[in-house]
Amino acid sequence: MNSKDKINILVVGSGGREHAICLAIQKSSRAGKLYCAPGNAGIAAVAECVDIGAMEFEKLADFAQENEIGLTVVGMDDPLVGGIVDVFEARGLRVFGPRANAAILEGSKAFSKELMKKYGIPTAAYETFTDADAALAYLESAKLPIVLKADGLALGKGVLICNTLEEAKEGVRTIMLDKKFGDAGNTIVIEEFMTGREVSVLSFCDGKSIQIMSSAQDHKRAGDGDTGPNTGGMGTFSPSPFYTGEVDAFCQKEIYEKTVAAMQSEGREYKGVIFFGLMLTEEGPKVLEYNCRFGDPEAQVVLPRMKNDIVEVFEACIDGRLSELKIEFEDNAAVCVVLASEGYPVSYEKGFPISGLERFDEKQYFCFHAGTKFGEQGEILTNGGRVLGVTALGSDLLAARKEAYAATEWVQFANKYKRSDIGKALEEV
Ligand code: AMP
Ligand code: GLY
Repeated sequence: MNSKDKINILVVGSGGREHAICLAIQKSSRAGKLYCAPGNAGIAAVAECVDIGAMEFEKLADFAQENEIGLTVVGMDDPLVGGIVDVFEARGLRVFGPRANAAILEGSKAFSKELMKKYGIPTAAYETFTDADAALAYLESAKLPIVLKADGLALGKGVLICNTLEEAKEGVRTIMLDKKFGDAGNTIVIEEFMTGREVSVLSFCDGKSIQIMSSAQDHKRAGDGDTGPNTGGMGTFSPSPFYTGEVDAFCQKEIYEKTVAAMQSEGREYKGVIFFGLMLTEEGPKVLEYNCRFGDPEAQVVLPRMKNDIVEVFEACIDGRLSELKIEFEDNAAVCVVLASEGYPVSYEKGFPISGLERFDEKQYFCFHAGTKFGEQGEILTNGGRVLGVTALGSDLLAARKEAYAATEWVQFANKYKRSDIGKALEEV
């Protein structure tokens, strides 16, 4: 392939996921100049960071036009749900991700539940309410535990699992009356509590067809043993040994293909990544949630294992010819352990210098930056709750886990906190 085929690429976002996307793009034979807006101190080693926020659609589109960007890849949910793809397309710019009318799959839980009900996609039984009194009355006869979900985006924190009636009522008041998650809580979904193992499955879609990536599992709670508050994700592994061939066969037919077809039937053609949050229940796999983008930190264990040229995959999705490709993964495993600031997700300090970053070879060991920035002397400082995602590859999951934990010791910063049991379940497989 000659250099004429190279395109300049812009990635939108600033977390570990976008760092993983940038690294995958950098490996592509199609990648020309790579930019990331706004990026972070780690992404700056791979891409030129551009000081434009992810929600500044017109400024981003101006930048794309001025810098001859041939492809923009949107990593985050907020801009996708807010319609960044529509803005870019209206200006004739090529962009990977769903339009707003399709990103609603993540943007509104009431929408996604209704879609699943209408098209017979397995999920928890539920009711939707726009009136707090009606929701409170419904709770009186509901089975416990019960799950409350704010309809809109709430940084992954809009889900409450309530064990008592009092807790559930308090939850409804917090979401609908106190508006803890703002307008995201104008509508509430109350759903049946499911038990089972969770699996994250990311997929590529071109509007008509869908191909999944290798499975992964996240660890959402802040503390060891799945205790403490929900976070954006404290660590992941891929593949999930619980995602068997039998589970896959069921999900392909009953969940993935049905979802893409349902969106097409609704006139909401889906191009981009669909992230299926699945619960493997005794009655079979069910959808917990959809997301309209790569998972974070799922991308940090899935993308380093992908064999395909990611830019070719993005282009095939945009052009509706994904079925010409076969998405393939290395026969290995990856584990990611998040290094957070002590106190995350409730309250934490930032601005501490980070050392030990030079040992990562980006072949077997990766240090994806989630919340970092440059200090005045060019030093790298902590700048968020989740600071780094340390990923290691291994021939199998236990080997990858051992290496990932070893590599977490290479890095030092004040108030460094990690879970010590990422992938513990793997010992029992
Ligand atoms: P969500 O943002 O919908 O994925 O919810 C966040 C987390 O809450 C999930 O990863 C699950 O651990 C949990 N959760 C959500 N819905 C349910 C449910 N119906 N039953 C049990 N746990 C749930
Ligand atoms: N790791 C869960 C998410 O990206 O939503």
